[in-house]
Amino acid sequence: MSSFIEKQEEYLKKKINECGYNVNEVVLNVSSRPEFGDYQYNGIMSLAKEYHKNPREIATEVVESIKADQKYKDINIAGPGFINITFKDDELIEHINELNKNINLNYENNNPKTIFMDYGGANVAKALHVGHLRSANIGEALKRLAVALGNKAIADAHLGDWGRPIGLVMLEIKKRHPELPYFDEEYTGEYPKESPVTNDDLMELYPYASNKAKEDEEYMEEARLITAKFQDGNCGLMALWNHIMNVSKEDIKRIYDRLNTTFEVWEGESDGDKYIPEMIKYLEEKNLVEDSQGARIINVSEEDDDHEVPPLLLIKSNGSSSYETTDLACIWERMKLWNPDEIWYLTDARQALHFEQVFRAAKKANIVNNNTKLEFIPFGTMNGSDGKPFKTRDGGVMTLESLLDMAKEECEKKVLSNITGQEREDVSEKVAIAAVKYADLIPFRLTDYNFDPVKFSDLQGKTGPYLLYSTIRMKSLLNKAQEANISYSKYTKINDKIDRDIIICLLNLRSVLLKSINVKSLNDITEYLYKITNLYNNFYANNHVLTEENKELQESWLMLTKVIFDNNLKLLNILGIEVPDRM
Ligand code: ARG
Repeated sequence: MSSFIEKQEEYLKKKINECGYNVNEVVLNVSSRPEFGDYQYNGIMSLAKEYHKNPREIATEVVESIKADQKYKDINIAGPGFINITFKDDELIEHINELNKNINLNYENNNPKTIFMDYGGANVAKALHVGHLRSANIGEALKRLAVALGNKAIADAHLGDWGRPIGLVMLEIKKRHPELPYFDEEYTGEYPKESPVTNDDLMELYPYASNKAKEDEEYMEEARLITAKFQDGNCGLMALWNHIMNVSKEDIKRIYDRLNTTFEVWEGESDGDKYIPEMIKYLEEKNLVEDSQGARIINVSEEDDDHEVPPLLLIKSNGSSSYETTDLACIWERMKLWNPDEIWYLTDARQALHFEQVFRAAKKANIVNNNTKLEFIPFGTMNGSDGKPFKTRDGGVMTLESLLDMAKEECEKKVLSNITGQEREDVSEKVAIAAVKYADLIPFRLTDYNFDPVKFSDLQGKTGPYLLYSTIRMKSLLNKAQEANISYSKYTKINDKIDRDIIICLLNLRSVLLKSINVKSLNDITEYLYKITNLYNNFYANNHVLTEENKELQESWLMLTKVIFDNNLKLLNILGIEVPDRM
């Protein structure tokens, strides 16, 4: 089965070939001049070049042969040889009935892939901050889109669970509670089951220790030592590490849950660490590792580089491994455990060079297959409403949680006053998440934007709440029809231009989906949702569906509403947005 437009493209290809012109692919585009047709074909010009003929002549031949089939309501030639097509109502009607049975018609995939995705990256013992918002939103939506399009996706939370921040926290715990058994080298008993710290403690401990280390070199050195020690597997420190992990992970999960951000696996940098020895052995055997002032490095520069790509630091001169080593070891692990066709990484653009080094080393060492695609998917920053990096009032880093709470406070004001108690809580939360996510996905992935909760929560305009409100209204129309025992099972009549415009917009979904997955940005989907929702609202304002006396028309209108509702629900779900029952 293929989508409506794909079927048309197949048909046109066949017709053009029958006319004696060889084409491999026919691509139809939404008409730029709707007064001439629904869709247009712009490929005649290149055929004309290839066959040294006048494009209008070819177009005429093709159009005459198609006219003989009487397939379209209208087919005509514009300008030098653009072919415009207007579909027959019957075909569109049939399509709506098919969509009603299967809203997934536009999501077919003949070449499914296994994609491993890395869009978490929260750091253990530290609060998620605003910088983690976009990877969570864009990553989750890309995963849902990839899966909707028939691929298999495995996302890893990839926690930052192995670095100095944890060493700093441990050191500060030691300073405050030197009596704890975790720090006693002689201790042989069982370590306590209860964590010595809560998440609130961690939120206080890390900033304190981190500031102190900046001013106090001796303290910093102690932190380095304790970090090296737990990384080396010291029993007491590992027991403490496990407590910190569990406490922190629970909180990190809670925030990702709020954002409807999900991971299939909850691994971290520490999981890659296990593979470092065997990977280094492999790299050494391949003669890829060189000495450099006591450190071990892999040269990853290439002859035609137009910018400097420094060597990948595999083992530092003090014997420890780097962020690059960990990522390389994680690729090693991922290939072993999951053997993905592609691995996608989402972080802000500042990590571009890091990933360039890691990917080159992975390719050079054949840690991945020749055709494994390693892709860095950077994104722009979200700034404060003044366009400057987002800070709290006292200049600190804004936590993700407080940002979500700010949005929730604004959205709560928009919720109906008769929604109270726990439901009010839940609805405000859903509306807030919709507001934040939709606003985050509107700009092209690489574009920066400013956080503006008042604008994002507006019930009018390009906002999450507008889409929720409109989608709920479709649902409520369908519910009211059911309550009034108005049944509908067939779409039979395109009433006027508004109805037809909606259907043409539905046809365009497939190309929006494919473009989005290709450029790995959700902005076309947010735009599309806004467009089709506006068209529907226009239809809603003009027609009184429930009181319509013409039963055939009423049934068709309800069916169209149902298809648009299903379609909106599916697309909102891809964006990670949940629709409440009312708001
Ligand atoms: N924890 C890192 C950070 O906060 C992001 C990790 C991104 N993923 C990766 N495989 N390096 O900057």
